[in-house]
Parts: sequence; structure tokens; C-alpha cells
Amino acid sequence: MSRTKVAVIGGGSNGEHDVSLASAAAVAAALDPERYQVVGLTIGRDGTWQDSGGDPLGLADAITTLTTCDVVLPIVHGPRGEDGTLAGLLEMAGIPYAGSGVRPGALAMDKWVTKLIAEDLGIRTAKGRLLTAGTASGYAWTGPVVVKPVSAGSSLGVTLVRDPGDLPAALTEALRHDDRILVEEVITGREVDIAVLAGTVSPTLEIVAEGFFDYRAKYGGGTVFQVPAPIDPSEVKALETAATSLYEALGCRGVARFDFFVTEDGPVLNEVNTMPGFTGHSQVPRMFAAAGISYSALLDALISDALA
Ligand SMILES: Nc1ncnc2c1ncn2[C@@H]1O[C@H](COP(=O)(O)OP(=O)(O)O)[C@@H](O)[C@H]1O
Ligand SMILES: [Mg+2]
Repeated sequence: MSRTKVAVIGGGSNGEHDVSLASAAAVAAALDPERYQVVGLTIGRDGTWQDSGGDPLGLADAITTLTTCDVVLPIVHGPRGEDGTLAGLLEMAGIPYAGSGVRPGALAMDKWVTKLIAEDLGIRTAKGRLLTAGTASGYAWTGPVVVKPVSAGSSLGVTLVRDPGDLPAALTEALRHDDRILVEEVITGREVDIAVLAGTVSPTLEIVAEGFFDYRAKYGGGTVFQVPAPIDPSEVKALETAATSLYEALGCRGVARFDFFVTEDGPVLNEVNTMPGFTGHSQVPRMFAAAGISYSALLDALISDALA
């Protein structure tokens, strides 16, 4: 049987470059060499492409390399990766790829638009206000808030502000990551995530972190994931229904992760990730492992979904 030639793209020109590299390296290493021939490509922090040997590739040459592959795994988180741009490039070049297309990527990367869509589907989100560099200084303090960029990831630029004196710095920090930012009410609840893979929902996962789930907590190793999350069956059902309806409404493909707060009044959606962390110990592989789907079986499913 001839092997499937799979391009694995990692890196990306945003603050999650290193996280994407780790995901892509783990994915490439987990693909069964008897079944897959892996071609690695990296997008640098400056947006330029490199081949597996680290040599620079012009964009046209990168596309030529991609067109020799049967399928692409674009394992790039964040802006100019997960936001539909990379999917758009692959669409235009007519190359099959795993994961969501342009529209779901762009919609889910925008936390403000995600709120509008979720609320329309009857899924609660944190009340938030959209601000820009022009309007941020006019924001009047009414109490503790979470300040975040509209489009970023890995908690970059996200600050929990309890003291009004800390607000200006938090606004400035969020504006470093995006020209639109959100100021949200602080939600109190367990952080519970769930994934959907082509119609199948995963077990739930609770992030047990001390306080805020920031970049350090995410990648510093101090955070515990509990799978399945210790929540009531009715709460699990509510998360499954909400995640599935969002997956369908956005028009996702492949795998997407839906991050919620489980509060006393039910689930509150925090965000949707159309290219979630993908190392072997990241959330999505851990969720599916608990359902008996190994990391490599999960990658097989992603590839089959892309080629279906
Ligand atoms: N409205 C909120 N209330 C309470 N905590 C929040 C809120 N928004 C974000 N957080 C905390 O900040 C973390 C990162 O925010 P999030 O919006 O998920 O950004 P990212 O896309 O960078 O992961 C969340 O995992 C959560 O711990
Ligand atoms: Mg998050």
C-alpha cells in the first residue's frame, strides 16, 4: 500500500509560534511511518516559510511543496494560522487539509463575533464590551473585569483586573496583541472544555488551575486536567449540546475545542478553538484518549475527515 504524503505545518507569525511548533512536532512524530510520509514545513515568526531542514522557502515554493502532498495538517494556532488565512491559502491552491475552513476559522478567532453567534443560539457568554485604541481610554470602571484581545490565544494579553488602578495597563497590554479588545465581566465557575470531532463529542475536561489560567499555567506544567470533568450528567449534556450546535452553526470541520465555564446557572461559553493545542499531552488528545481513541488514532481520524 502506498503511503499517504502528509504535510505538517507548524510555527506561525504570532505569539503562539512556539506552542504551534510543539504541537506540529508532536503530530509529525506520532504519524505512523508505515502509513504516512511526513513533509514538515515551518512558518517563521516573520511569516516566511522554511522547509524541514530550516532552509527558507518562498511562498510559491512552499505551495509547490504542498501540492505534492495528499493532505495538509495545518497545526498553526492563532492569527494568520487558525483564523482562516492558512485555510484560504490551501483552498486557493486546491490542496486538501484537515480542520476548519476559512469562515469557521475567522469567526471563532474573533471572540466578539463568537459571543454574538453563541448568544443567538441561546448559549450564554460573559457580558462584554468591545473597545478599540480610540475608545479604550473612555471606558469607565464599574467593577472587576477581564481584559483580552479579540483575537489572540494562549492567554496572551489577557488580564484579570480587580483594582481600577490596574485597568490602563491591562488595556494597553491587550491592545499590543490586537487593535480590538474586549472587557468582560468576571465569570466564576469551573473551567470545563469539550471537543467535537466530525460529529463525535469528546469526554469533558476540567482545568484545575490555581486562579487564572495564564500562559505560565498553560505551559509551565503546574496545571492538572481532570478527564472527565467531575460535573453532573445534566451539565455534561448541556455542554455537549452547546458545543455541537456551535460546531454546526460555525460550519467547523475536523476537530474544534469549546471552552466553557460551568457556573451555578449553567454553562457560559468562553471561546472556540478551531486548531486547539495538539501535543500528546494537550487537552484534545487527553479528552479523546479517555474515550479510548489514542493520539495516533485521533490523527488518523483527522486525516480521513480531510480526505472524505
Ligand atoms: N470572563 C472571564 N471570566 C473569568 N475568567 C476568564 C474570563 N475570560 C478569560 N478568563 C480566564 O483567562 C483565560 C484565558 O482567556 P481566553 O479568553 O481563553 O484566552 P485565550 O484565547 O488566550 O486562551 C481563561 O482560560 C480563563 O482562565
Ligand atoms: Mg482560552
